[in-house]
Amino acid sequence: MTEIRLHQGDITLMSVDAIVNAANSSLLGGGGVDGAIHRRGGPEILAACRALRASHYGRGLATGQAVATTAGRLKAGHVIHTVGPVWYPEEDRSELLASCHRESLRVAAELGARTVAFPAISTGVYGWPLDDAARIALRTVTEHAGPPLETVWFVLFDAYAYAEFAAVHRK
Ligand code: APR
Repeated sequence: MTEIRLHQGDITLMSVDAIVNAANSSLLGGGGVDGAIHRRGGPEILAACRALRASHYGRGLATGQAVATTAGRLKAGHVIHTVGPVWYPEEDRSELLASCHRESLRVAAELGARTVAFPAISTGVYGWPLDDAARIALRTVTEHAGPPLETVWFVLFDAYAYAEFAAVHRK
């Protein structure tokens, strides 16, 4: 049974087999957690992302998809880049957010990862409400996480995000 744990802090400091990056389809970096990962992980990560763009991902990574690269100087072994959906009240994109988690878990399994850390995907720049994101993230990981994965962390950057995830996780 894979354990799901919550942590308030900076995902770039996590010593896990893989951390998930809330990237954008260009895979060439950005702000938020994407910026933090590239900043602390160093140029190797961007070089690996550029190589992906030059090979299988010429048109970029599609929303809901996931791909792994080196984690550069980070303590983690790999970075799994995924592109979350932008929140759009007029359209239910929940399935795309669920896909980010499902595909990231699939890539983690391919890597043989035993520990993985997720940020709160799409809840920053992409504007997804935290309580709804927490419900989708926790439900999807609960349904799809399995051996060899032992622990899935959700690393929340601030107390508000932590409280929203904890409220859903406790139910
Ligand atoms: N560790 C953990 N969580 C973090 C960190 C960090 N170092 N930095 C930010 N976060 C949190 C934010 O507070 C938010 O809750 O990650 C969550 C996701 O926010 P964003 O990083 O803005 O990601 P997202 O909303 O998915 O938007 C993706 O933003 O950074 C750009 O290149 C990225 O274009 C893409 C877009």
